[in-house]
Formats: sequence, structure tokens, C-alpha cells
Amino acid sequence: MSDADAGKSPSLIELRDWRVSFPGGARVLRGVNLQLSRGERVALVGESGSGKSMTGLSILGLLPESAVTAGTLSWKGETCVGRSEAWWRQRRGREVAMIFQDPISSLNPAYTVEWQLREALRRGGQGTHDRDAALELLRQVGVTAPESRLTQYPHQLSGGMCQRVMIAQALAMQPELMIADEPTTALDATVQMQVLELLYRVSEDRKMAMLFVTHDLAVASRIADRILVMYAGQVVEQGLAREVLRSPQHPYTRALLAARPHVDSVPRSRLAPLEGVVPPATAEFRGCALADRCREKREACHHEPPPWIEARGRGRLCVLNESGA
Ligand SMILES: Nc1ncnc2c1ncn2[C@@H]1O[C@H](COP(=O)(O)OP(=O)(O)O)[C@@H](O)[C@H]1O
Ligand SMILES: [Mg+2]
Repeated sequence: MSDADAGKSPSLIELRDWRVSFPGGARVLRGVNLQLSRGERVALVGESGSGKSMTGLSILGLLPESAVTAGTLSWKGETCVGRSEAWWRQRRGREVAMIFQDPISSLNPAYTVEWQLREALRRGGQGTHDRDAALELLRQVGVTAPESRLTQYPHQLSGGMCQRVMIAQALAMQPELMIADEPTTALDATVQMQVLELLYRVSEDRKMAMLFVTHDLAVASRIADRILVMYAGQVVEQGLAREVLRSPQHPYTRALLAARPHVDSVPRSRLAPLEGVVPPATAEFRGCALADRCREKREACHHEPPPWIEARGRGRLCVLNESGA
């Protein structure tokens, strides 16, 4: 800990050399380091299969039963490793809320919007969980004519409206951290932008930290203060969002950026930044996990693990210097 850190309250979330594997040899997280401060918005970015969801699920205590973990995972300086299901249940919802890509599956199809919101308020220990409190939540997430929504069932709502109701439900518990796993991927571009703006605004207004998972660098840069780029179960680059976009230091981030159609549009397509695919979780690497696909690799990259190099708030897992030379 540096002098500047001394006396500060601990991070909200801290993962150190966090590893997740499954029987059969799948190593889905290979030593992730992630630290999230109170009120901070961090985006995890990477192609499908890079381990973003497994990172989020680790923090929620929702990994599959068969997962084997190693390393450090803590919440406000207190370890989360070896905790009971009851301990995790206490934290989920109330302290850490989650929203997913598919809102329909997160809402209960059998109940009205009013019932679901009041139930969330009640479970969150809010003093008032009446109809007015439910209406107020809907207003906070930008639902117009909220009265008309209260009596509706999830299947009667559009995708974007479902997302807003799910966000309202998450906010009912007044969590300190929201984990959003590809929450806008299934929405059309206009609605996607509206939901992103809403998430940004509620996290700003409530000083609520956010871990935002996306395969889309453009989306990440709109919402996050800081970006962590993941590849094959590792963080390969991290830094302030604007700096990572302006001067990417890792060849993988450079490839992601080059694959973006326009700087200011929201791309609809899945990332295909490089030839080939993300290696399977069962792959073993002697050197850098990206070596086979990297346009900037050296001979040594195939057999020497890359070093983690950190300077001026930026970090990268690469042997090349920051501009790729
Ligand atoms: N139960 C499991 N057993 C073995 N491997 C798994 C299991 N669940 C997920 N994986 C693997 O974990 C890797 C990371 O997955 P995930 O975190 O979902 O990636 P992302 O969210 O970045 O797309 C993938 O290669 C996936 O196949
Ligand atoms: Mg995922």
C-alpha cells in the first residue's frame, strides 16, 4: 500500500490473482486483478468467452457449484471466500444488485409490475413499500405515465421497458454496487442508448458503483470511468476509459478499436477484431494467450508469459512498450 492509499477506506471490491476453473481442465479465469472503488463505474470489455460473466458471477457468489476458485476476493476489505450461502444472500440485492441481458427472465411473469417493485422495496428493507413508492421508482427510471405500467405483466412490456422495470427493481434495494452483464445487447440502438444514459444517471445520482460487462468498446467508453479489457480469462489492459481509447497500450485493445465501424456510432455487430477465435478455456499457454492472433507479436511471445507492466494509472499484460514498439 502506498502512502497515498494509507488511511483510505478499502475498495468496494477487490480481486487479486482470482482464478476459476472447472473439473476437466477448463481454466476460465487465469489470475484476474480488479479493484473497484465506491461510486466508480468500471467496464469489463472483451470478446465472448473471455471470462467477463464469470468475473461478475464470482462477485455475486453465483458461480456454478462445480467451479474451483483460488486467489483473493473481498468486499469492503472483508473476504468473500468460504462464505455460506446465507451470507451471500444477505449481500445480493441489498448491497450488490444485478441486471442481465434478458430482462424477461429476471422478472416474474406471474406478477404485475407493481407487485414486483413493492416486493423488491420490501425485501430491500425500505420503510415504505406502497403503491406510491413503486410509482416513484418508475419515475426515477424515466417511465412516462407510470400509473398505466403498474398493472401490467412483464410480457406486456417492450424490451426497453422491461429493462427499465428491472433497473427500478434493482434500485429498490439501494445497492452500493450494480453489476450489469450485457444489459443492452438485446435492444435496438436507440433504446440501447437510452438505457445506457439511464444507468449512467442513476449511478451518478446515487453514487452507486457499477461493474458494466460488455463486448462492445464503444458502449464501455460511454458509461465507464475505467475500462478493463479481458482476453482468455485475464485482464490484458486497464486504465481510464478516455485514455484507453485515446492511446491503447495492448495489441488486443488496438485491434478492438480498429474493428469499430465509427468512433461515435454504437456498433451492432459482435466484435471480430482479429483472425481466429478466443482460445477455449482448456487451452494451455506457454507464452502469451494472444500470441496466435496478435498482429504485433514477437517470436518470444509464443513461449514467454507476458509481464504485467503498470505506470501512471495504466496497466498492460504485454512485453511490447506502450506504443507497440
Ligand atoms: N460450467 C462450465 N464449465 C466449463 N467451462 C465453462 C463453464 N461455464 C462457462 N465456461 C467457460 O468459461 C469461459 C468464460 O465464459 P464467460 O465468463 O461466460 O465469458 P464472457 O462472459 O466473456 O462471454 C468460456 O470459455 C466458457 O465456455
Ligand atoms: Mg458473458
